[in-house]
Amino acid sequence: MNPIKIAVLAGDGIGPEVMREAIKVLRAAEKKFGFSVETTEAPVGWAGIDAAGKALPDATLALCKKSDAILFGSVGLPDRDPTIPKEERPERAALLRIRKEFGLYANLRPVRLPPALAHACPLTPERQGDGIDILVVRELTGGIYFGQPKKTEDLGAGNFRATDTLVYTTPEIERIAHVSFKAARLRRKKLTSIDKANVLENGVLWREVVTRIGKEYPDVALEHMFVDNGAMQLMLRPTQFDVLLCENMFGDILSDEAAALAGSLGMLPSASLGATSHGTTFGFYEPAGGSAPDIAGKNLANPIAQILSVSLMLRYSFGLNAAADGIETAVTKAIGAGNRTGDIFSAKESGARKIGTREMGDAITANI
Ligand code: IPM
Ligand code: MG
Repeated sequence: MNPIKIAVLAGDGIGPEVMREAIKVLRAAEKKFGFSVETTEAPVGWAGIDAAGKALPDATLALCKKSDAILFGSVGLPDRDPTIPKEERPERAALLRIRKEFGLYANLRPVRLPPALAHACPLTPERQGDGIDILVVRELTGGIYFGQPKKTEDLGAGNFRATDTLVYTTPEIERIAHVSFKAARLRRKKLTSIDKANVLENGVLWREVVTRIGKEYPDVALEHMFVDNGAMQLMLRPTQFDVLLCENMFGDILSDEAAALAGSLGMLPSASLGATSHGTTFGFYEPAGGSAPDIAGKNLANPIAQILSVSLMLRYSFGLNAAADGIETAVTKAIGAGNRTGDIFSAKESGARKIGTREMGDAITANI
């Protein structure tokens, strides 16, 4: 088998240090499970601006285009934002641009609270039930993040008018609905579709289309929920959810909320997938959390979200399920053995050891 070609874009903030650990784990999995990977690093975000004057340098984009998958860290350094126009900032000029450029419309964010981390969940034990295990499916290339017009007009006298446009078409809703129903089939066969159909035109269309597509999946139980109620239900009774289907902005918000249930945003990986052609799916894999500049370079960041992003990559883009399982088991074992980065550490927990980014990467690598 030809080596799998991965573009490695570590980006800013904690990106490089968590990426280092993820590559360590990838290399260990490569040896153990007998596949072959070729990784090429390239700058993105502020690292791209510093290296080549653009958040997504041409050479980085060219590398992505000839790769089989993109392993991404995180971008953005808010302190530097005022120095360049907002369209050129990494979130828009690199991250959103890549999502659009590669048609990565399906964002999968699996939220799991491992039993060993029950203490890190802000909910009382009764509300955690037998454990939290939710897959947030977020539509990623439509909605209010991309709709036109998107502009700020000067109304004079110090007043402005800002416009963003929330727009979805039937095919955009259909394809993300299919992804969600298929994912639910492989899990507990329940799909909760989130919308705001009581107020938004988009919500009405969303609900109609998802209901219609649902007829093709009679084995999956479909329910609809308004987003405000969904946000509340996530806190009150998260165990009722299996797959949560959301449009772009609702998914952005609810996936952060759901991540808090899993103990930390540092635990949440994500896969952004485009269309499947010739049996392979081009994918973009990144932690759902941000660049966390406040803790960058201090060996404090939790590398687990980045490491689990590697496992999603092996699973979704390359069908290397045994290797993906191997990485997930290694993470569970490392946590089970009491290894904790600061974000998931509690002094009250007996047998827990507070360690750094590198040590967590080593502990997981040792379990591969
Ligand atoms: C995410 C992030 C991004 C988003 C930001 C950094 C643009 O919050 O992936 O959830 O809003 O999509
Ligand atoms: Mg977000």
